[in-house]
Order: sequence, then structure tokens, then C-alpha cells
Amino acid sequence: MQQPIIVALDFPNREEVKQFLLPFENQNLFLKVGMELFYKEGASLVHDLKSQGHRIFLDLKLHDIPTTVNRAMQQLASLEVDIVNVHAMGGVEMMKAAKEGLYAGTPSNKELPKCIAVTQLTSTSEEVLHNELYIKSTINDHVLHLCHQVKKAGLDGVVCSAQEVKMIRSELGTSFYTVTPGIRRSEDAADDQHRVVTPKLAGEYGANAIVVGRGITRAVDPFLAYKQYENEWRQN
Ligand code: C5P
Repeated sequence: MQQPIIVALDFPNREEVKQFLLPFENQNLFLKVGMELFYKEGASLVHDLKSQGHRIFLDLKLHDIPTTVNRAMQQLASLEVDIVNVHAMGGVEMMKAAKEGLYAGTPSNKELPKCIAVTQLTSTSEEVLHNELYIKSTINDHVLHLCHQVKKAGLDGVVCSAQEVKMIRSELGTSFYTVTPGIRRSEDAADDQHRVVTPKLAGEYGANAIVVGRGITRAVDPFLAYKQYENEWRQN
């Protein structure tokens, strides 16, 4: 499978999604549906996008007791999306329960969605890690520790900063899947992202998929922007 560009559909409702997708008619994209959109539009939007031929990363970052996560994943599996995720901070038992829920909820003739984990959000600074979360290791050590827990639980990989990919691949191996947000072409604004990486560099670091939101969704010409991101990403 070609390594995907995942477009973050950070829109408040399906009307804005529809407008955004107009220039992409007849193209099959890989789309990220997050909490904002899913809480508003729910499963029916996911069904609609799938019926248009798009693949879906359902970015709901589950984090709860193992039984609840298992049952929630059974429900999400019935949506037949391509990627789902959890917080690694929920622990190995919770992550295993997530995977078991996906097995139980995926129709027997369908492929199991990839299940990946968020280690530390890129919005978490070392100061917050130490003083608020009371975790005394460095961010890098903590991210690597969580990656090992993710692998132990049998999940497919992680959402991480592109700047962490090299370190993660050298410790966890190249089959450990990495999905990286915080991607910008050099000519685009960083917005509120602290450590942005270009699509080309993310590819050189070994990222398996990049997530691009505003660089495409807020561009004057989103179709052109998508093609520009795609060209840079495919150069690898
Ligand atoms: O607009 P931008 O490209 O910055 O959007 C990035 C997307 O990736 C957003 O949907 C954001 O919530 C998500 N994300 C992120 N950093 C993480 C995890 C998810 O930017 N660590």
C-alpha cells in the first residue's frame, strides 16, 4: 500500500466537510475524523465518507477502563474504519482490551483496522510532564517507554512527532507503524504547532503516514495544496 497522506477534517459539521471535498470529486482520500466532527455528526458521516470511497482514521483517542475501551472498540469496529487509536497512558491491559474489542467487532470478512496509540501529546511540554503529570523522565525517554508498552500490548504503532520517528524506529523496529501530525511545507504557517516538519523530511525520517490539516484545509486552493503536499511526500 502506498504510504498515505491523511487529511485532518478539523471541521465543525458535515456541510463544511462537503464543501471542502467538492474539488476532490472522484478521488479517494485518507481522511482523519476527530472528536469535534464525530461528536457532531456521528457514525452516519463515517458511513457517508466510506461510501464515497475514502479511507478513515477515526481519531478518538480512547482512554478508560479496559472493559469500557473493549466495548467501545467493538462499536467502532463495526464502522469498518481503517485506523483507530487509544492513549498509551491507559496502560497495557487497556490497550490489549482495545485490540480484543476490535477483533470481536470486526466482521469476519473484513480487515482489522490498525490500532495505534498516542504516547505524549505534542502539546505536552517537558515542564507539564514534570510538574503537572509528575513524570520525572525526559519526554523522549517517556515516549520510548510508552512505545515499548504499545508493542507489548500488540498494537500496530503510534501517533508521534516526525522528529521522534528515527528514535522510535531504531528502538522498536521498522514494522512499528508511525503516523505523524505537525507537518508543514516550508512556505506554510506553523500555526500553533511547535515543532513542524516538512513532508519530505518526515519521509526521510521513516514516517509511515503524515497527517496534514490546516496546510490543506485552510489553503486558498485546497486541491492544489493537497497535490503540493503529495508531491513532496512522494519524493521519498
Ligand atoms: O492543522 P494541523 O496540520 O496542525 O492539524 C494536525 C492534526 O493532527 C489535528 O487534527 C490535530 O488534532 C492532530 N494531532 C496533532 N498532534 C498530535 C496528535 C494529533 O496535531 N500529537
